[in-house]
Amino acid sequence: MALNSRIIGCGSYLPEKIVTNADLSKTVDTTDEWITERTGIKQRHFAAEGQLTSDLAYEAATRALKSAGIDPSEVDLIVVGTTTPDDTFPATSVKIQGRLGIKHGAAFDIQAVCSGFVYALSVVDSMLRTGQARTALVIGAETMSRILDWQDRGTCVLFGDGAGAVVLRAEEAAPINPRGIISTHIHSDGSYKDLLYCNGGPSSTGNAGVIKMMGREVFKHAVTNLADVVVEALAANSLDAADIDWLVPHQANQRIIESTIKKLGMDREKVVMTIANHANTSAASIPLALDAAVSDGRIKEGDLILMEAMGGGLTWGAAIARW
Ligand code: ACO
Repeated sequence: MALNSRIIGCGSYLPEKIVTNADLSKTVDTTDEWITERTGIKQRHFAAEGQLTSDLAYEAATRALKSAGIDPSEVDLIVVGTTTPDDTFPATSVKIQGRLGIKHGAAFDIQAVCSGFVYALSVVDSMLRTGQARTALVIGAETMSRILDWQDRGTCVLFGDGAGAVVLRAEEAAPINPRGIISTHIHSDGSYKDLLYCNGGPSSTGNAGVIKMMGREVFKHAVTNLADVVVEALAANSLDAADIDWLVPHQANQRIIESTIKKLGMDREKVVMTIANHANTSAASIPLALDAAVSDGRIKEGDLILMEAMGGGLTWGAAIARW
């Protein structure tokens, strides 16, 4: 019996506090015009003091479980993509497991920065297909506001906080057009680790550090790697860009998304864009965008969805799913 992993629910959570570009320009040497023109970002949400990544993730997870119509006790795997975990250990995922009252199965985090959600989907899909778990919560959750350098206007204006989650269930694959994850494709190249990194950590400085980025270099790699991995994902399934109903990209920069779709000849109308309101929420950006497009009725049952992301590492990847 061939199994595949069907997405049976999704949910998301954004912290209440909204910070607009105009708000930022009061304390950072920047303008709404510069940020909008270079990135497409108009505002971002920031977690309240004391509000942790696991708090955002827990909200997104409970909403996803509700949309799936299942009880937490049915979940036997929780994987969280995050680069801003609550603590060095334990994993943020086990804190969520505890809050959901689940005592069976497994929970662990994945660190692939902005590609974290695609990496988590890839790992979970493999585990469900091979029968290692039956019902999984896959979460992308971040409090990027905790690792921003407010003296560096080139990075501090780009990021936001939030969380998104999907529930995946292993099912016998339908013979024609099965719903669920169709394929995932993940890559990394550590030789570019210095283009985008956090200058802290438990074994180096003993503190969390702040984001350091060579923006122009990252931009170039993003457009090339994202176009390449999309071509790889389409080719693996004998699909054309025109077959995709919705592109749900990582929301790092509107110009990266537009350059990528131009390179691929994809239709702008088929792209879910949330960057203006969410900014770059790293591993949370794809599930946040997915949930937005499902909630407002754009993504419908049977639609072909293409997700792609690139982040520090460098890491990048893509996933194709039938909703
Ligand atoms: N407000 C006003 N001016 C600014 C700001 C700001 N917030 N930040 C930088 N500037 C100034 C710089 O000081 C510089 O001024 P100068 O010419 O007088 O020296 C000028 O703007 C141009 O700076 P650049 O850094 O060269 O600007 P660039 O056009 O490359 O845009 C940006 C910067 C938006 C970061 C761009 O490089 C980019 O989007 N890179 C992609 C990286 C990205 O999105 N990373 C997110 C994480 S990775 C991921 O998720 C894929």
